[in-house]
Amino acid sequence: MYRTKTCGELRLSDVGSEVTLAGWVQRLRKMGGMTFIDLRDRYGITQLVFDEAKQAELCERANKLGREYVVQVTGTVSERYNKNPQLPTGDIEIVVTALTVLNASEVPPFTIEDHTDGGDDLRMKYRYLDLRRQCVRANLELRHRVCLEVRRFLDSKGFLEIETPILVGSTPEGARDFVVPSRMNPGQFYALPQSPQTLKQLLMVAGVDRYFQIAKCFRDEDLRADRQPEFTQIDCEMSFVEQNDIITLFEEMAVYLFKTIRGCDLPTPFLRLSWDEAMRRFGSDKPDMRFGMEFVELMDVLKGTGDFAVFNEAKYIGGICAEGCASYTRKQLDQLTDFVKSPQIGAKGLVYARVGEDGSVKSSVDKFYSPEVLARLKEAMNAKPGDLILIISGPDTQRARKQLCELRLEMGNRLGLRDKNKFALLWVVDFPMFEWSDEEQRLMAMHHPFTSPKPEDIPLLDTDPARVRANAYDMVCNGVEVGGGSIRIHDSQLQAKIFKILGFTPERAQAQFGFLMNAFKYGAPPHGGLAYGLDRWVSLFAGLDSIRDCIAFPKNNSGRDVMLDAPSVLEPGQLDELCLKVETKS
Ligand code: AMO
Repeated sequence: MYRTKTCGELRLSDVGSEVTLAGWVQRLRKMGGMTFIDLRDRYGITQLVFDEAKQAELCERANKLGREYVVQVTGTVSERYNKNPQLPTGDIEIVVTALTVLNASEVPPFTIEDHTDGGDDLRMKYRYLDLRRQCVRANLELRHRVCLEVRRFLDSKGFLEIETPILVGSTPEGARDFVVPSRMNPGQFYALPQSPQTLKQLLMVAGVDRYFQIAKCFRDEDLRADRQPEFTQIDCEMSFVEQNDIITLFEEMAVYLFKTIRGCDLPTPFLRLSWDEAMRRFGSDKPDMRFGMEFVELMDVLKGTGDFAVFNEAKYIGGICAEGCASYTRKQLDQLTDFVKSPQIGAKGLVYARVGEDGSVKSSVDKFYSPEVLARLKEAMNAKPGDLILIISGPDTQRARKQLCELRLEMGNRLGLRDKNKFALLWVVDFPMFEWSDEEQRLMAMHHPFTSPKPEDIPLLDTDPARVRANAYDMVCNGVEVGGGSIRIHDSQLQAKIFKILGFTPERAQAQFGFLMNAFKYGAPPHGGLAYGLDRWVSLFAGLDSIRDCIAFPKNNSGRDVMLDAPSVLEPGQLDELCLKVETKS
């Protein structure tokens, strides 16, 4: 037997017993004639002691151990003189009587402790060492528990867990596909699924009724803190349901997860905001509702009421009111201006107005506006003495709102209003069915092409498709889209019409989605579903800044696995077998 106990379980009640432990040497300290070792395994850390005066030979061997050596020790549990309240095992130590080195270790490239000296790149290269750190491993343990609770909940609701294939066909809608060449079908490619969307719909045609899968999805898109090229969805689909049935059930699931994982009770029902309203009030389809600072549209107040050309030419003028920030210094205001003018945000400038303690308004555009207009501004913004009004305008409403949204989030950060231990969940509903793509010069599906329009908007498909709203919904928590779904089209003719609006010829639609449209001819039930982003849920529960930290082996921002050094070039023989020739663009 390698061990009788783990490094996390011994307590005062074990004092006097003889135990055998196995683990890694985290730290070694010599003090006088004593040697202390922190021995680590998955379950915790236990202090080992070697006394030179009593066991010189054993102590000498212990002194030669290096960090991360794998050892087995036998000894007696004894009460510690200097207790460590930070450690669950901090009341005891093991007075070692036997030591076996199970494996040596080279000096690790960084310190394997919660506070490490390893930078991001190094930690990713040696991720297997990084995962030895308790703070990182805790995220994997949390992820495991979330998956367990997800399965428990969905099973209790009659869902069947069904695996769908990873080698599928390429679908041109949505993000770019990762493709895999087929050796047996030269010149042809599989694609990795961006989501199991069409397959889960086919399972509904098959009569499965309630399906779920903890599914790997692959998307070749630009990466951000909440995006990985390979990520995991809790993917679900149900038959004979309407939007409200799905929203109710998955709201219950969110409440269940928060209760079991975080021990907190969420108030229900969650707020439901239409996409239009979310954009108007927060400039985002995933508003962070942990704080207010809602947009106030100021076209009536500031356009054409003074000589400020920027506002007079604007299509949108909007402001937010930052409570108690009138005392911001010139430097702080310049920083905010630089922030909105940065290339990522792209605003032309920032106008501000301070409300003094006497109620007077002093703004950066004073010379263009009369005191009456500025007083109206204060009133419109509902600003109090001591508040700071921040205003953004632009020729494109959507873009200006997006810029104001970034500013609102930045102010939320600066004012400490985005507390990681506070959770604000809501549904955003009634998304537009289509959005215009400048790149492709055509309408694209905002969710995906299988989403059904709202029944009352179906007539608009022929007259004004851009105004059609979709039967789609997203769940948002703290400004993050944690899930999204829709009621699907189950009628092959309506599906064909949508493909036409999306610019598909009937032949191309048949070639790419014929399998689905044909299936719909054989009695497809009304159906709909949703997919939660597992990585995003776990990050929220753990309070992480990036989903990377809850993935065992994530990719970096260039989509590389630096530990495996992937992607990599293929051997010429492999390329030949696949009938592939690689030409790199210079
Ligand atoms: P959607 O594309 O909205 O919908 O994805 C569902 C959820 O998956 C998560 N997500 C991601 N997480 C990490 N990295 C990514 N690159 C990434 N992309 C998406 C988000 C998102 O809300 N088939 C539909 C679902 C449906 O209609 O049922 C779909 O994939 O949390």
